[in-house]
Amino acid sequence: MIGKKFTFIKSATGIRDFPPIELPHLAFAGRSNVGKSSLINKLANTKKLAKVSQTPGKTRLLNIFNVDDRFLLVDLPGYGYAKVSKEMQKQWRKMIEDYLITTKDIMILVFLIDSRHEPQKKDRELYEFLVYNDIEFIIAATKTDKLSKNQLNKNLAVLRKEFKVPDYRFYPVSSKTGEGIKELEDYLKLTIDN
Ligand code: GTP
Ligand code: MG
Repeated sequence: MIGKKFTFIKSATGIRDFPPIELPHLAFAGRSNVGKSSLINKLANTKKLAKVSQTPGKTRLLNIFNVDDRFLLVDLPGYGYAKVSKEMQKQWRKMIEDYLITTKDIMILVFLIDSRHEPQKKDRELYEFLVYNDIEFIIAATKTDKLSKNQLNKNLAVLRKEFKVPDYRFYPVSSKTGEGIKELEDYLKLTIDN
């Protein structure tokens, strides 16, 4: 657990709609359906903090939680959901990018990537955006339980090659089995404490 008391504050429509609370942020970004809400629930040790969806594209706003009055946890909307209009996708992208740029100095970002797939265009776009804007992040490679050990290792090697971060910023995780969660949690706790 990365905190004791998680309080939902609001679903914000953008950075201007944020509550004026001066705390560091812990944010989660990644493609629609990658497992953001599931990972947040796992880290919060609850099933119901963030809404887990069968239908991708459920989280359309920036969902903000106050954790122990120590930091704000921000569940960003998943990007790249094909069934949403191009215009809507553009708006989401702008909302996410504005948020990331504006808060970059007070934020820890967890960038989630699905370990089952080859790097996707949308993941590359976010990666390039982060590197270009000098925004630090750690990678959580999600849904590791869905692959054989062999296949997983192959895929992780591909991801590591493409999305370059030091080892201590790369975490293969499964919200289903809990694999890798402790390692990620330990890192987050340390970073939040500093
Ligand atoms: P959006 O809010 O739409 O952007 O999606 P999200 O990134 O929040 O994903 P969410 O946590 O809602 O999970 C999407 C689907 O993947 C759900 O059906 C989850 O149950 C499933 N899922 C998430 N994490 C895991 C995992 O570690 N293992 C397995 N097997 N399934 C997972
Ligand atoms: Mg979600």
